Amino acid sequence: MIFVTGGAGFIGSNFVLGWLAGKDEPVVNLDKLTYAGNLENLRGVEQDARHVFVRGDICDAALVTALLGTHRPRAIVHFAAESHVDRSILGPGDFVTTNVNGTFVLLEAARAYFSSLNGAERDSFRFLHVSTDEVYGSLGPQDPPFTETTAYAPNSPYSASKAASDHLVRAYRHTYGLPTLTTNCSNNYGPYQFPEKLIPLMVANALAGKPLPVYGDGKNVRDWLYVGDHCSAVRRVLQDGRLGETYNIGGWNEMSNLEVVHTLCDILDELAPASRSYRAQIAFVADRPGHDRRYAMDARKIERELGWKPAETFSTGIRKTVQWYLDHQDWVRNVQSGDYLKWVEQNYGARGTAQERAA
Ligand code: NAD
Ligand code: TYD
Repeated sequence: MIFVTGGAGFIGSNFVLGWLAGKDEPVVNLDKLTYAGNLENLRGVEQDARHVFVRGDICDAALVTALLGTHRPRAIVHFAAESHVDRSILGPGDFVTTNVNGTFVLLEAARAYFSSLNGAERDSFRFLHVSTDEVYGSLGPQDPPFTETTAYAPNSPYSASKAASDHLVRAYRHTYGLPTLTTNCSNNYGPYQFPEKLIPLMVANALAGKPLPVYGDGKNVRDWLYVGDHCSAVRRVLQDGRLGETYNIGGWNEMSNLEVVHTLCDILDELAPASRSYRAQIAFVADRPGHDRRYAMDARKIERELGWKPAETFSTGIRKTVQWYLDHQDWVRNVQSGDYLKWVEQNYGARGTAQERAA
């Protein structure tokens, strides 16, 4: 079986659902169920004996050690993290605790477990660390996309904590010979993404008749990848990735935030028409402090070595995604709980629209 961390979050739950749909190999899923973790995402495998869900913290060394000893996984796939840049700006502490200390605890437990393995079990064991393109910092408009050899230059507490965890993984490979793999992926979108991130937030706000808060001038660029493609890339790397290597994963799909928001409005105008275009709800608000201008991934290594390419284009993936949110408005309502409302007030209350700031 495989041991997944953070499998109740956005990407982790897509990964677990996709894994169990495609293979008979069981999954142990360790998740703390923070605000971002949601068992509703896993309803499809609730009754499935191949899915063992454990509510717990990756920082709990005794728990992690016991789970590895009991279930004896052939691989660890590590998604668990605090993942939202804006939250890392307002409260960086949890990011260091989970992303740095939590990864350290997991690596230590994996090292002890790995050293107890022999023969084929030892040869096949893998520790796959899921990371982000944000560790590379920000690109200028003419810069080539990030490659696996681009120097790390993280700019937010989130990306700094992920960079630190990547470095720990690297060191455990180099020093202890732990069979590690690292993936660095661009911005994901798709079903089950918490509506604090750009795409689900905009869809939810649009349908609720609320402003669509675009930070700064809206010209920051991200490289968007459909979540199912990220999961297929992780499976490819787990299966055939070279030990100790890192693989960049991206969609070859750079877009400015404003282009993304316009696209969402246009699809919603078609699928859920209101009395006026949703574009009328766009509101420019104060920029994110230290806002990275551009991310872009050079994903040629994973294509060359492992034959992976995204299956979705942005236009096919985004249409499916908007349709999913339209079909799952109960899911959105359920996660917009008291804590969510507090967050919205904290993050957006202080920003104001461009008009309000000018007044
Ligand atoms: P998410 O915030 O939706 O989910 C994170 C999950 O981890 C949640 O289920 C949460 O309950 C769990 N978790 C948090 N702290 C924990 C702890 N201490 N112990 C156990 N579980 C804990 O995040 P996501 O968007 O699914 O991202 C998953 C991983 O992919 C992260 O490592 C992130 O850095 C990386 N990543 C995300 C993106 C993206 O666009 N979302 C892009 C590239 C890489
Ligand atoms: P986000 O989804 O938070 O991902 P990340 O910061 O990890 O790239 O944001 C994507 C982009 O959208 C980023 O440039 C910030 C911007 N953004 C807004 O303009 N308004 C918003 O309300 C949010 C949440 C993000």
